[in-house]
Amino acid sequence: MKRNTRTLLLVAGILAGGATGTGYSPGATAQSAKPKSGEGDDLRAVYATAADVAEGRRVTESCSRCHGPNGISTTKGVPNVAGQRPAYLYAKLRAYQAGTRGDHAMEGAVKFLSDEALVKVAAYYASLEPAQPLATDGAKAAPARPDPVAAGKAATAGCAGCHGEGGISKTPGMPSLVGLDPKYFAAAINAYRSGQRKHDIMKSLIAALSDADVKNIALYYALQKPARAQTPAPGDQAAGKTAAAACAGCHGDQGVSGNPANPSLAGQDAQYFASALRAYKDGSRKDETMKGLAAALNDRAIRDLAAYYAAQQPQPPKVEKPLTTAEWVQRCDRCHGVNGNSTDPRTPALAAQRVEYLVKGLRAYQTGARKDSVMAAMSTSLADADVEALAAYYARQRARAFVYVTVPYK
Ligand code: HEC
Ligand code: HEC
Ligand code: HEC
Ligand code: HEC
Repeated sequence: MKRNTRTLLLVAGILAGGATGTGYSPGATAQSAKPKSGEGDDLRAVYATAADVAEGRRVTESCSRCHGPNGISTTKGVPNVAGQRPAYLYAKLRAYQAGTRGDHAMEGAVKFLSDEALVKVAAYYASLEPAQPLATDGAKAAPARPDPVAAGKAATAGCAGCHGEGGISKTPGMPSLVGLDPKYFAAAINAYRSGQRKHDIMKSLIAALSDADVKNIALYYALQKPARAQTPAPGDQAAGKTAAAACAGCHGDQGVSGNPANPSLAGQDAQYFASALRAYKDGSRKDETMKGLAAALNDRAIRDLAAYYAAQQPQPPKVEKPLTTAEWVQRCDRCHGVNGNSTDPRTPALAAQRVEYLVKGLRAYQTGARKDSVMAAMSTSLADADVEALAAYYARQRARAFVYVTVPYK
């Protein structure tokens, strides 16, 4: 019987600790024809026979000192391989042998094994009951990463009285914070901290905020729906518009800046705007660029510019809301299966894998030490806290063994 007259059937959901012995179905042995070489080579471990599995077991005599007698590791940094998906195991063993997965311990361990032996040992490990979550991984589990936007909102409780709900000022003299780029926002806070920007009230109000708080707050304001400050803006808007031609190069057309170093001015409170320009002028707010520009403006011109910018529509800065751990898990599960229980023989299961090994793997994809274009793309935007939270999440999941059975088409 030729391999391509068969299809792969997934017998799902044999729970670990369940009734099966090795987890290998006798059905698989009944159809033991080998695939023709060169054809579907990457699935050879999936089509292995019971005899192959038994031979694979012998190979593991040299593996168990690291991977444990049942493929369940008790050594830091060494992954569990029991119940891992067969085609994935085989592919990785070949990669270690070829030296393309960069791990000296594993390169040495597989150096002298034949390709047949790799197929068989992959099939053997895949047939074993997977590990179950370690109690310690559960206990030490990093909590799911809190929603940074919700955390930012909570931290702004003390700011709204002056800066308005959602950062839309209702008080003349108080700047709106909505529409500001998070980078400018953080720089402004740091300037108050260092005293480079002098304002005793702001300095004391932010004294207790951590860098993470500031990041969350800046993100929260950046994601609020922008609106103009609800404050009076007397002055000649048309004259202000003409004068603003000199400002647009940095602050953007209509006061919406494309560069985080230059704050957006659209919809800003007019009184704050005017006082900022006077502060640049008299040197009490230090900025060489703005000092020179403000020096040329008289009170009337400042008023008109303030009126013009206050009337412009603020826009949200270009920032994306970071995903929560739960939202990341949904994305990861698309390939790695429900709660990391992959149903694809080529994609590794993550459930109940050792937490520090998951962290190490994700970092290796991020740095390029492990080369995989899919995982490189998936992991680039993970923050350190995401990596830890995701590793902890998957390490805690119950692992399910899967049995792949080959059946004839008809
Ligand atoms: C000296 C300790 C050691 C020995 C012996 C050893 N391994 Fe490993 N193995 C490791 C370490 C460490 C890793 C993780 C390497 C990495 O990060 O890529 C690993 C990774 C693997 C992986 C990849 C798992 C995954 O989830 O990506 C497989 C498969 C594997 N080993 C199988 C074997 C087999 C089969 C043998 C015996 C022929 C063996 N190992 C012997 C230490 C060892
Ligand atoms: C008592 C009123 C008050 C409170 C409460 C307050 N601020 Fe301010 N904030 C001000 C004033 C006034 C300014 C303008 C100071 C200046 O001229 O530099 C300012 C300026 C700022 C700026 C700079 C805006 C810009 O366009 O450069 C940021 C950022 C800021 N505040 C953030 C916060 C945050 C975050 C909180 C809450 C933790 C907060 N403020 C609470 C009064 C307040
Ligand atoms: C060469 C670039 C550049 C030009 C041109 C420029 N600005 Fe600025 N402006 C900046 C930078 C950078 C800052 C932030 C400085 C700081 O950190 O205090 C700033 C800050 C400001 C602020 C304070 C905003 C806030 O939220 O605190 C106002 C108001 C302002 N500019 C008005 C103007 C006006 C009006 C003009 C035209 C007459 C102008 N700027 C032209 C670069 C520029
Ligand atoms: C588009 C499919 C896909 C998505 C989505 C995906 N992965 Fe992967 N992942 C893979 C494949 C394929 C591999 C095997 C790569 C290799 O050979 O190194 C892998 C490998 C891994 C490994 C290494 C496992 C081991 O045993 O060494 C970890 C850890 C991992 N992924 C975590 C994640 C996390 C966390 C996410 C979500 C942020 C994710 N993956 C999203 C396909 C995907």
